[in-house]
Amino acid sequence: MSTTLFNLQLEHIAHLQRAYEQVLTKSGFDSLAIYSGHADYHFADDHAASFQTYGHFVHWVGLADIQHSWLVIAPNTRPQLYLYAPDDFWHLPTKLPEEPWVSALDVHLCSTKTAPTLTGKAVVIGDIESVSTDISQALKADVAPNALVQALDELRMFKTPYEVACLREANRLAIAGHQAAQTAFIGASGELDIQLAYLAASRQRESNVPYQNIIGLNNHAGVLHYQHYDLTPPKQRFSLLVDAGRRFRGYCADITRTYAGPDAPAVFGELVNALHRLKDEMVESIVPNVDYVGLHKQMHHSLGNILVAHDLFKGSAQQAVEEGVTRAFCPHGLGHSLGLQVHDVAGLRHPDGTPAPAPTEHPALRLTRTLKPGMVVTIEPGLYFIPMLLKPLRDKALPINWTLVDQLLPCGGIRIEDNVLVTESSFENLTP
Ligand code: GLY
Ligand code: MN
Ligand code: MN
Repeated sequence: MSTTLFNLQLEHIAHLQRAYEQVLTKSGFDSLAIYSGHADYHFADDHAASFQTYGHFVHWVGLADIQHSWLVIAPNTRPQLYLYAPDDFWHLPTKLPEEPWVSALDVHLCSTKTAPTLTGKAVVIGDIESVSTDISQALKADVAPNALVQALDELRMFKTPYEVACLREANRLAIAGHQAAQTAFIGASGELDIQLAYLAASRQRESNVPYQNIIGLNNHAGVLHYQHYDLTPPKQRFSLLVDAGRRFRGYCADITRTYAGPDAPAVFGELVNALHRLKDEMVESIVPNVDYVGLHKQMHHSLGNILVAHDLFKGSAQQAVEEGVTRAFCPHGLGHSLGLQVHDVAGLRHPDGTPAPAPTEHPALRLTRTLKPGMVVTIEPGLYFIPMLLKPLRDKALPINWTLVDQLLPCGGIRIEDNVLVTESSFENLTP
């Protein structure tokens, strides 16, 4: 790891210390404990599901697999890390990396699950309900007041240079996976083999992915969060949609690419190209102070133009938007905030923590904020052929070219997704 990144990380931790001190002072607390969380066993079993550490904990330590541990933050005091590291011959004991950030913390190695030492008026955040009664009673602290958690969420909305560097590297690693997935598709692999090619090239095991990779061939490309991997390749190859990421020091890439296969009608390939151009147009619209809901609406208008230009809709773009046609072809939002969680915190709030819900007609939008420098967002326009959403339109007297829609149904759909930083004057596309 480069010295530059290590230095940026030390600055990031110093920034967090200052920001947390302000939040604690404002909310009248002397100390704050963050619980890492821990994995639960499956019912009646001794195996656990995959796990990710609480985002506010990872914000400090950059490790997304720490369990049963605590971080204590207090003004004018070094962060105290109570790291659960029992003697254990079944597992490799938890060990911190030999990296400079570790020396910015006081590390207490705990051989048993223990409560941290808190001073003055204390507060805890994290999945406190999951800790044992002994520990929760020993804490003597307020639990996660909304205003405090929202203020800490708000901090996560604005990425430090260290966090941006991590997101950039997560993107670089994920793109290697996407290139391998495309090669596997060209070589006629099925969904599972495309997934395995992606994991190998992006250098990660499946339990570490930031979200379950979506690898959809043909009509599976039209299932927004398609969750399976068919073992065998289909006989005909119309399309492939890959929505797959990578974590780097806790930070998530979230990238989607769609490819036309040899059996797709020519218009599908043209639509894939049109969605790439739409993604670029939306990325280039990013500047500080732009309203993300406005960008989402701009996407719908441009989708209307695409439907008209490719003969899917024989009316005007405006009619396609007003009659809800573009929403049937793209039922999700333009994107979301991205960071330690793929759908990162505070997307549906104003800066002061009051709710900023999605507009009624766009309920799936996960980000309603005015964009500001330091925010990282996804831009992910889509165009899908989803029978369940198109069915209600078939009974209406709308100028939809159903013959063409029916030809495209086996292709499932298209999504193109990049990760973008809002800079002081414009944007930086983090997806190479
Ligand atoms: N991968 C989930 C999303 O794009 O939001
Ligand atoms: Mn995605
Ligand atoms: Mn996304």
